[in-house]
Amino acid sequence: MIIIGCSKGKHISAKIAQKLKTRHSELKVRNFPDGEIYARIMSPVKGKEVALIQSFYGNISDCIIEVLLAAATARELGAKKVVLAASYFPYFRQDSRFNPGEAVSIKVMGKLFSRHFDEIIVIDPHLHRQSSLSGIFSTNSKKLTANPLIRDYIKKNIRNPLIVGPDWESYKWARKVAEEIGCKSVILEKKRFSGRKVKVTLNEKVDISGKNVVFVDDIISTGHTIIEAAKNIRKLGAKSFTCIAVHGVFVDNALERLRKSNIKVITTNTIPNKVSKIDVSGLVAEGLR
Ligand code: R5P
Repeated sequence: MIIIGCSKGKHISAKIAQKLKTRHSELKVRNFPDGEIYARIMSPVKGKEVALIQSFYGNISDCIIEVLLAAATARELGAKKVVLAASYFPYFRQDSRFNPGEAVSIKVMGKLFSRHFDEIIVIDPHLHRQSSLSGIFSTNSKKLTANPLIRDYIKKNIRNPLIVGPDWESYKWARKVAEEIGCKSVILEKKRFSGRKVKVTLNEKVDISGKNVVFVDDIISTGHTIIEAAKNIRKLGAKSFTCIAVHGVFVDNALERLRKSNIKVITTNTIPNKVSKIDVSGLVAEGLR
């Protein structure tokens, strides 16, 4: 197998190859003057299994075009199998036609990617109305979870935690992590009014006093969900607030606003950032074995 680090996967691709004791190469990518993408595979792939490592953030459209160019090229050059390991896969949250005429992005992306890959591996996909990857991709797919890594981080670094899921969708992370640690958890209720406006409420009786509250969620994007959640329970006497998420998307200066709200933030490096202290390269390597 050859591991190819695409532009947003380079931060983990060499480590993945090292863990698998296999060859590593980087995809050469640049923009033509008009913005089009140029991609070049730098190692021979004929007869080989190729794993493209990519995350999808920043200029997401460019990230998509780049891996599609690379996958099609690997195939043309005779690769035996072409796999995509996506530490963060985009477009999963628009999973329904909420208003007439809307694109159901998850389906469109599912079809598009399925045509180009023999297998697609995704870390903690945002599966909500779709319950599994097989409903999205018609090619082979595998879901990995960073939950054990988050569990280990909390066990090592946070005493007397109370795990809080900021909305019911977060139970797959919050509840699971709490169960594995053997500590209490509570799931809040969230009402979303728009991409930037949410209301989060605690509708259960739970003793928060003196606890180190740890919000656990899959994605932090604008940060409003976590900031609103903390606001709602702040008066109940928690000792500290930490938020641990798998994917730190962080738009609109979210990290800074979370810090100003006295919330410590930790994420995995599915998307690398200032607080991505939890490394997923081992997880991806296992997924590729
Ligand atoms: C949504 O259900 C996700 O699990 C996250 O809670 C959401 O994407 C967070 O978004 P934001 O940080 O913009 O509130």
